Formats: sequence, C-alpha cells, structure tokens
Amino acid sequence: MILFGSSGRNIMKFENPKTAPGTDPVDAWYRYYAGYSAAFVAKALKEVAPRARIVLDPWNGTGTTTVVAASNKIGAIGFDINPAMVVVARARLLGQGVWASIAPLSADIVVHANARNIEDDPLRFWFVDRSAANIRALQASVHRLLVDAGTTTYPIFDCVSSMSTLAAFFYTALFRTVRLLLAPAAGSNPTWWKRLDENERLNPGRKIIFDTFIHSTMELAEGLHRANFSLAVQTRVDVGDCRQLLSIADQSIDTVITSPPYCTRIDYGISTLPELAVLGAHEEVIKKLRNTMVGTPTITGEDGAEESWGRKAAAFLSDVAQHDSKASGGYYSKYFRQYYSGMHASLRELRRVTRPGGAVVLVVQDNYYKELHNDTPGILREMAKRNGFATTARFNFPVARTMASLNPRARTSRDQASAVESVLVLR
Ligand SMILES: C[S@@+](CC[C@H](N)C(=O)[O-])C[C@H]1O[C@@H](n2cnc3c(N)ncnc32)[C@H](O)[C@@H]1O
Repeated sequence: MILFGSSGRNIMKFENPKTAPGTDPVDAWYRYYAGYSAAFVAKALKEVAPRARIVLDPWNGTGTTTVVAASNKIGAIGFDINPAMVVVARARLLGQGVWASIAPLSADIVVHANARNIEDDPLRFWFVDRSAANIRALQASVHRLLVDAGTTTYPIFDCVSSMSTLAAFFYTALFRTVRLLLAPAAGSNPTWWKRLDENERLNPGRKIIFDTFIHSTMELAEGLHRANFSLAVQTRVDVGDCRQLLSIADQSIDTVITSPPYCTRIDYGISTLPELAVLGAHEEVIKKLRNTMVGTPTITGEDGAEESWGRKAAAFLSDVAQHDSKASGGYYSKYFRQYYSGMHASLRELRRVTRPGGAVVLVVQDNYYKELHNDTPGILREMAKRNGFATTARFNFPVARTMASLNPRARTSRDQASAVESVLVLR
C-alpha cells in the first residue's frame, strides 16, 4: 500500500516499512529488530534525499540502513549501543570479493576449533559445560584466525570496534548457530531469554554444533547483498550512543533513516542475550548495557525537563501519573519519562548533526497504556519542532502484529492488532 502524506508543499510516497519486499536472512534472524525492510530504505532515500552523500542511522540495529546506503555507493554511518548488533551490521557489509573464501575459511575454523572450558562462561546459562566448551571452541577459532592471531582474547565484548567485516561475518554465523541450538529452550516470547535450570540445560554434541555453524555460514553468505562495496565511499559501523554522537561534526549528515526503540518496554538487552553470551558478556556488563539503552524497561533514573517535550507528552505523562491502576504513578511514570527524555536528547543530537534542510526519517509506532493513547509519533513530532526542526510530515500504516504483542509483559488493554506504524519525516 502506498500512502500520501501532506506536509504542505512536499508530497512524498512511502510504502509500509514492515512489508516492503527485499529482505536479507538477518532480517528474519533478528526480526524483532527489523524496523523496516531494505526496500523501505531504498525508497526513503529516493524520496527524501536522492542526492545524499552521507546517511546516518543512530539506532542501526542489524544495519539495514547502512548496507542499503553502502550498496548505493552512499557514505553510511551506523551506531548502536549494543556491540552484538554492531557485529551483525558489520557482517552485512562484507564485500563480494571475499565470498569465494567463505567455504574454505569455515572449514579452517572448524578444523582449528578445540574445546575451551571457561569457568563462568555465559553460554552455560543454557548449555551443559561440554556443549558450551565446543561453541566456545568455534568462537576462539574465529577470533584467532580473523581478529587476533596472537591471543584468544576473551571476553570479546569490548573489541568489536576493531573487527573486520569478515570476522563479523563469522561471528554472526556463530550467533545464528547458538540461536538454532537454543530453539528447544525458546519460550513463547522470542524477546525474552531466561537462564535454564541445571537439569534442563541443552546438550548438543560437537558434530551438531559444528554442522550448524557450517550451515549458518552458507545460509548467511547466500543472502548477503550482492554488492561490491566501494572503498571510495565512507562506511562506518560502530558502538555509540544516539544521545551523544561525539565523533560526528555539526551539520555533516545529509539524511538520517532510522527506527528508534519503540516505547513498548521491549528489552533490547535481554533479547540479544544469546549474542551477548557469545561475546562473553557477563551479568554486570549486560546490566550496564541495558541501562544505557533508550527505551529500556529497567529504571535508570534518567529524567528531563518535561516542559520542553511539548503539550502531547505533558498530557500523556500527566494522565499516566494520575491513573488509578497499580504502579501507574510509580514504575510506569518513571518508564515513560525516561523514554521521552532519551528521545528528546536523541532528537537534539540529530538536529545538531544533520545539515539544514536535511531529512530525518523515523519509523515509530504508537501504543496504548491501559486505555491511554501513547501517541509516540505525535509526541516525537512536537518534540522535533521544539528541537529546531522546521517541518514535520507523518505517514501512517496499520500494523497487524506489533512488537508489544510479542511481549506478554508489555501487553495492554487495547487489541494490539490496531496499532499504527508511522513514518515521520523531519527537516
Ligand atoms: C528498533 S531497533 C533498530 C531497528 C533497525 N532499524 C533495524 O532495521 O534493525 C533499535 C535499536 O536501538 C538500539 N539502541 C538502544 N538504545 C540506544 C542508544 N542509547 N544508542 C544507540 N543505539 C541504541 C538497540 O540496541 C536496537 O538495536
């Protein structure tokens, strides 16, 4: 379906971000992240910035924006606070030139994989010690062959910034391997991973683990973008906080295409626990990571000056605070304030880095808290104006199945099938 937006002079066309065709396998592997399809990004670039030379995604997730921009020979910068997502987004930038070496390298990785027992290995959350040691063997082998020959660095959590696209490719295949092996333990909510009891831990053998890895490398290679990325075009995918894009100069970005975390209490830290475990992240690290995420359901103490967020935000926050249901004045008020405070800081930063007249395209959903309409797109639109964006346009699409409906903890009294997904274009 194509909808037309009326922002006065500019008539633009957008397709539904979720259903526009053109997906890579990673879109399916991490579908709770996929704010939109590759085709949506291509279309958005054509509509809002046909001459863009540098595109930014400050919530890059699996890197749909960066891979589409780079395949169109447009400079691409992507940040995500979650190192696991940075690895996936880098993997998608693997140039066609090295594809022929994927099969022999996979075989090499397996041949050099020796079981590695690590006392407090987070993979032991779900796997018996022997299985965890064999998965860890693959990780150490990828690392030795492609990241750091001298050592078997562990944990890897802090060194993703120096990882090549080739190393990131094999790490992503390993992420997929762990997800496939974990399938028997997956609950009804795919964004929530709980630790298994000692006697429930999974016990896949060495052969299954290694075969699954080889299969995953092939599957990922098959579905990568058929592009030979130009070295002349800048691409940068790294760990970074959308509220402080310190390495980006003022007004240096032509356009932003992104999907911020939705205000639905999806925990993006917990939803990537399997990937974070491969990277060796322990509970303390994960706790810290979750607390830096915009939209985290954990309470971090982040708050801001509500007066500068606009009338819609003020009205919604006041209704939540006064709602007579349990925890509305406590946890939920804090949660919503925290979300909008984070989004306010992010929009301010996006205004700073985007050149005057440059477009910021945000894909974002509304939802309900009890019977109260949390019109996130409408609230962000007002916030954007207060942050110096001169015009805003909104395009609405009905969504059949929302991110919130996947999370029983976030379910609200409204039938989630009626949610609306909006494309906001700010300039
Ligand atoms: C909806 S997802 C992005 C979807 C993405 N457009 C895609 O297609 O995969 C939101 C992302 O924001 C990231 N995120 C959360 N807080 C962040 C922060 N403070 N700075 C940067 N990224 C953050 C999460 O890790 C998550 O990957």
